[in-house]
Amino acid sequence: MPKLKITGGNTLSGEIKISGAKNSAVALLPAALLSESKSKIYKVPKIRDIEYLLKILEVLNCTYKITNDEIEINTTKLKNAPIPEELSEQMRASYYFMGTLLSRFKKVEISFPGGCNIGARPIDLHIKGFEALGAKVEIIKNKYIITAERLIGTKITLDFPSVGATINLMLAATGAEGRTIIENAAREPEIVNVANFLISMGCQITGAGEDTIIINQSEKKDDGKIEVYPDRIEAATYVILGALIGKDLTIKGLIKDHINAVLLKLKESGVEFLETENSITISACSNPLPINITTEVFPGFPTDVQQPFTVLLTQACGESIITETIYESRFISAGLLNEMGANTFSKGNILTIKGKTPLHSANLYVPDLRGGAALLLAALTAEGTSILDNVLLILRGYEDVVEKLTNIGAKIEIIE
Ligand code: UD1
Repeated sequence: MPKLKITGGNTLSGEIKISGAKNSAVALLPAALLSESKSKIYKVPKIRDIEYLLKILEVLNCTYKITNDEIEINTTKLKNAPIPEELSEQMRASYYFMGTLLSRFKKVEISFPGGCNIGARPIDLHIKGFEALGAKVEIIKNKYIITAERLIGTKITLDFPSVGATINLMLAATGAEGRTIIENAAREPEIVNVANFLISMGCQITGAGEDTIIINQSEKKDDGKIEVYPDRIEAATYVILGALIGKDLTIKGLIKDHINAVLLKLKESGVEFLETENSITISACSNPLPINITTEVFPGFPTDVQQPFTVLLTQACGESIITETIYESRFISAGLLNEMGANTFSKGNILTIKGKTPLHSANLYVPDLRGGAALLLAALTAEGTSILDNVLLILRGYEDVVEKLTNIGAKIEIIE
């Protein structure tokens, strides 16, 4: 099992180019099945989840060609087949095959999806939506079996604007007769990215990025084409790193509007940076101010960034509070930061951080993807050499992380 060896304390400068977004790409690959010929997806990050999704495409008799960061997927010989547990359990996004296979074949057999252990993470909203479209959902021995004679468009009002449920229902609705309306839809950029891909195939979708999405039946789905949006969570993580130990560190190739909520919180904390529509140039803030953050659905402060942001707040003099509203609790990594000298305390969905506390090195086991990103930032900031174990979780979400950090002056290497 690979580990990361990190010697912290170096000032980081230069440029980091943001990769395609994991959370978009993992929906776009399953979405490619809706094309009845072939699709091209540009700027696909080289991360482990993509490797597993490609294996699932093979199970479904699709072929693909990878050229640099482009993947061309040929679905002309697509066959429905059960998606085995050893693939579906590798990530949560395997559930997007529910939506696409239901749309194409009106039948799906898939073992339970996996994903980071950051709370209960039920998929009841997906299931209720499929049922509203006319599908029957059975759970038999760790497997979902979803069948429908016909899918019929209807109005679905989500109890919560879930990213996964919105995308999955949009995918399924492309195979429904008539019109489907998804109300209280999630508005995250990933939804717009997937909708634009489907529109490029000829699907009739309006409202993606707003709270009501309308999908009208369309007969033929042609070649699709899409560029994966830049990864807003990766971008925010590196911007926070710049606020910790950067010196004119430029994060480029991002979409500023996608991380506005994080930038506003950095400003509130007294961090200064230069911004353009596609880049942020940032240097370390020696005395960040303590602030309070509440995670929210987009365009609010993203839950995936609260863990990395916690590291910056350990360096603020005074008390900061993070209220997590998306997951019931997501503070395992904050507890681990205490082993590096931080002073955090969590109760339920509230995390209190008392600073300023110098950080020192430690050997730690990465608990989840974004928690791992937080430990990585802390290890880069801390004096001394830290070893992070279970880092495949970090590699799931951060393309070329070692190379990108080495290029800006970090001392980091993968060791076995
Ligand atoms: C996606 C992201 C994840 C991010 C999250 C919130 C991917 C692959 N993952 O996850 O990184 O943290 O959005 O921005 O894109 N919920 C239910 N029932 C459901 C669906 C969701 O109760 O059927 C709950 C979840 O348990 C969670 C909340 O709703 O508490 C948000 O979930 P959701 O927006 O669906 O997140 P994911 O799509 O799983």
